[in-house]
Amino acid sequence: MRHDVIERYELGWMGVSVVLVVLLFVGVLASMISDTLPGVVESRTRFVDPAHLETTAYAKPGLHEENGELHAYVVARAFTFTPSVLTIPAGRRVTFHFTAADVLHGVQIEGSNINFELIPGHEGVASATFRTPGTYTSACNEYCGAGHQNMAFKLIVENAK
Ligand code: CUA
Repeated sequence: MRHDVIERYELGWMGVSVVLVVLLFVGVLASMISDTLPGVVESRTRFVDPAHLETTAYAKPGLHEENGELHAYVVARAFTFTPSVLTIPAGRRVTFHFTAADVLHGVQIEGSNINFELIPGHEGVASATFRTPGTYTSACNEYCGAGHQNMAFKLIVENAK
């Protein structure tokens, strides 16, 4: 092969890699701008006593407004989530708090970045804004016992009335 031919091949493949890099950049940028996935703003793990959930905010599971912010508390327990159906308004930021009361469970809300392994004693906290009304389901995704396959969580996102 002649020297200038090899250079032409190299130039061609360099062009291909530049196109791929540009496409990757545009793709990431487009998904950030279009906001098609509810982005998790912050996510952290905190500690909570599983034997005394009644002394914590989990005593009243469900959606609460605290100082103008929406917080949802969900307890996973063999073999149900409490609440098992949670309704939130579309377009409003909600901070989700999940914990497990007995054994290991898991939750992943379809169409979002919320994905927690629920360990007793630990609290999964994440804020997200769901813009698209609909029903988002999650099966418990950690094996937790005989009723594991029937353990499900449903998030309903509704337009504000
Ligand atoms: Cu709970 Cu599997």
